[in-house]
Amino acid sequence: MFEKFNLSTDDVNQLGLLGALLIVLISAVIIGKYIKQMKTDTSSGDLTGEDWDGIGEYRNPIPVGWALAWLGTVVWAMWYFLLGYPLNAFSQIGQYNEEVAASNARFESKWKDPSKETLMNMGEGIYLVQCAPCHGIEGDGIDGKATGFDRWGTAAGVLDAINNGSKGLGYPMGDMPAGLASGDDAKAIAAYVASGMKGQKPASFSACSSCHGEDGKGLGGQSPDLTIYGTPTFVTEILNRGKLGSIGDMPKFNDGRLTDMQKEAVGHYILSLGEK
Ligand code: HEC
Ligand code: HEC
Repeated sequence: MFEKFNLSTDDVNQLGLLGALLIVLISAVIIGKYIKQMKTDTSSGDLTGEDWDGIGEYRNPIPVGWALAWLGTVVWAMWYFLLGYPLNAFSQIGQYNEEVAASNARFESKWKDPSKETLMNMGEGIYLVQCAPCHGIEGDGIDGKATGFDRWGTAAGVLDAINNGSKGLGYPMGDMPAGLASGDDAKAIAAYVASGMKGQKPASFSACSSCHGEDGKGLGGQSPDLTIYGTPTFVTEILNRGKLGSIGDMPKFNDGRLTDMQKEAVGHYILSLGEK
């Protein structure tokens, strides 16, 4: 793989070295010529009339060669920017993105309509790589360092949100304050929300509806849609938003690191941790 550099057999490097020596040589000759000329030359011609501390300026026309080179550079720069390399030609990043897209497409077609079991296995693999470092291998949240999935997504998780408030998901409405309901009221609300808001709505849900809406759907994106709390869709929403937590930030997973299916899979997996 890696060959030791050997100048005597390496044509390209030999040429490079030759070129470098020529450049040094030519520069030395030219610099020498001008230094000599500066010593002997006398100047003549029209002055512009400006005078900076005794230094004047000649009224010289722009040298044609220089002007052409300058115009050429401008034209070339426009061509380069609009048609040349940066916007149109080969790009490593572009190639990488294309390869990732192709690989994702292969992935999507290979795992089309996955069974619940497939999603669960896939989710476990993703979880152990992407989430376990913060949420713990068992999903316990590592002593409160991150959310524990033994509770989150269940009625106990809703109760935690009611008791402690919630912040950091970045909804337009901002944070949710703690202690909006308590005691049996809070328990009844938690059970109702965790059940997907089906069945009899407890009267105390009025403590929530001002922000989450009478139907719990989050007033058109102002706050989280509670009807999907505890579903993989809600997890996907969180993964796309990131969570700026009190003890540290959870990164956003909306950069293509995970496909939609992988987000759903890891959602199924973490929610299974609370079903025990
Ligand atoms: C003042 C407005 C407001 C009220 C009132 C309110 N919420 Fe929220 N709720 C929010 C906002 C905003 C968020 C998103 C907060 C965040 O960034 O984590 C949220 C988040 C949640 C979450 C998601 C928590 C998580 O872990 O992801 C649940 C569950 C929830 N609210 C339930 C309730 C319940 C139940 C009530 C009634 C007791 C309620 N909320 C009352 C504004 C409110
Ligand atoms: C860099 C650490 C880190 C990584 C990696 C991480 N999380 Fe989190 N996550 C956190 C923290 C910290 C919180 C809790 C923030 C808080 O409320 O204080 C959190 C909260 C959550 C929540 C609850 C959000 C809410 O609204 O209460 C879910 C769900 C979640 N993470 C899922 C995941 C999944 C799935 C992965 C892997 C794809 C993941 N996290 C990767 C740090 C991380």
